[in-house]
Amino acid sequence: MQRFKTFLLILMSGISTYASQSELITNVDGRKTVSLNGKWEVIIDPFETGYYDYRYLPSANGFFKNIKAKDKSDRIEYSFEKDNILNVPGDWNTQREMLFFYEGTIWYKKSLDYNLKAGRRVFLYFGAANYKANVYLNGTLLGENVGGFTPFNFEITNLVRAKDNCVIVKVDNKRSRDAVPTVNFDWHNYGGLTRRVTLIDVPQTTIMDYFIQLKKDTTDTVAGWVRLDGPDREQDIIIEIPKAQVKKTFRTNSSGYAEFSFRKELELWSPENPRLYEVIVKAETDSITDYIGFRSICTQNTNILLNGESVYLRGICIHEEAPLANGGRAFSKEHARTLLGWAKELGCNFVRLAHYPHNEHMVQTADEMGIMVWSEIPVYWTILWENESTFENAKNQLTKMITRDKNKASIIFWSMANETPLSKPRLRFLKNLAAHARSLDATRLITAAMERHYVDDKTLMIEDPFCEFVDVLGCNQYVGWYDGLPEKCGGIEWKNAYDKPVIITEFGGGALYGYHGDELTRWTEEFQESLYRQNIEMLAKVPFIKGLSPWILKDFRSPKRLLPRIQDYWNRKGLITDEGQKKKAFYILQDFYRNKANLQQ
Ligand code: GCU
Repeated sequence: MQRFKTFLLILMSGISTYASQSELITNVDGRKTVSLNGKWEVIIDPFETGYYDYRYLPSANGFFKNIKAKDKSDRIEYSFEKDNILNVPGDWNTQREMLFFYEGTIWYKKSLDYNLKAGRRVFLYFGAANYKANVYLNGTLLGENVGGFTPFNFEITNLVRAKDNCVIVKVDNKRSRDAVPTVNFDWHNYGGLTRRVTLIDVPQTTIMDYFIQLKKDTTDTVAGWVRLDGPDREQDIIIEIPKAQVKKTFRTNSSGYAEFSFRKELELWSPENPRLYEVIVKAETDSITDYIGFRSICTQNTNILLNGESVYLRGICIHEEAPLANGGRAFSKEHARTLLGWAKELGCNFVRLAHYPHNEHMVQTADEMGIMVWSEIPVYWTILWENESTFENAKNQLTKMITRDKNKASIIFWSMANETPLSKPRLRFLKNLAAHARSLDATRLITAAMERHYVDDKTLMIEDPFCEFVDVLGCNQYVGWYDGLPEKCGGIEWKNAYDKPVIITEFGGGALYGYHGDELTRWTEEFQESLYRQNIEMLAKVPFIKGLSPWILKDFRSPKRLLPRIQDYWNRKGLITDEGQKKKAFYILQDFYRNKANLQQ
């Protein structure tokens, strides 16, 4: 009881904690921003000394502040130093050798002046921070964010000052059993301020959010809504699409909200013609420009229809890891262009962005390049299905993924999970996520990467009650790698218990680039090449399989991959090495996508 009283005393001791997170601001690139990217001073704090006192009681505002000794007798036991920095955005693991496997807390500090003009509001925005972030401004806790792959922001209008603002962020990438993802996942636990940090300057009443897409199951009706935030909520709103001679006026209600829909024949977005329209949303007090593609996506029995035409998804899986150089978390437009450029070179019209929402440049670039996208939250493997806070965490990450990207035509799937073991609590958890996704966005297809089951010793199918609740069945299968040898493909039959499309969302095997031998020698390029050839032959003849996204475009780091001189903490299932070298299997898949997959329509 004493500990609790002490904790309350600390909390109540005049340490002001500010509001929690604000509504997520969308289309950051369409707004007035001041970037805080660059060098941040840091303190590496493995025992969280800056957050817990010596009795391990948390301090509401943290102990690490921007304090300098004034007198030689002052007791200061920490300090942010100009020569102790980390670059933002970027994971810390690849910036310092001693941080490669670091799992814990690092404190980041940035000082800045800010001239807030009268009648304006300012927000502090983070593209992502893995995994948990506590954000302080001038000694006041703004709030906390949990989840390593989605954006968050805080309004700081009433706290920011003209000179010497001090932003301090506690980032902690420790894994935990109740987290999303949980403690066990097959990728490197990159920690830090892994995406951009920026100030966003908006009018008193701002266009906080909007949704503008084609109405579900139509190709000639634009539908959506606009939401204002601020004191003047009832305003005329103009939606303008100049190149389509569209200029429509609507009025927001007392809550600042307006729904709209209007008929218009637009040039439809597709991989062959990734048409993006300049769309201007204009209120009386704010205006924002976006570049939006209009397309329809739906299913018809076991077919996937893009703009009413059956489409075969020529895909590949991608982890958010920077190509070339020393790897680490990808965060830039250049990283996105390289990774998606490799996918295009492979002959792809589709990518599965595994296993979490990627940075905004990936989906923006997919929009521009005409690559359809599977976007996923990290509900991965053995999540704590019966833990309420775990569900709220997953739901929050799902909400932010959809909020950020709902106007991106390239995204056709929202994926709820990857390879989750069957149980009643798991089904309830996923069903509720799927229902929530549909409530936020009725235009896209809901799916998940599920596991296959043997009906008999040579017949495979997906036996998963979650199939009832998705539009498209994602199926991970590893015949030839975890399940027999590649030749086993020749004897496998596939069945589908649902009148819904199936996508093989993972197949593949490991190969060390430059290691050659016969096709039965594990880890050789020849083994991987033979595995791809035989899997493609098996899958291409299954009529209800409407797409592939093999695992995976590029070798990626994982602490689970330990085989010396072959893996060395790398998962080697990539078709391309981290240095951009293409393995022999790359050309097998490229040949199928370029010359045969179109026969699959
Ligand atoms: C799993 C999982 C991936 C993992 C892959 C592998 O299916 O979805 O995250 O990396 O297989 O074993 O390489």
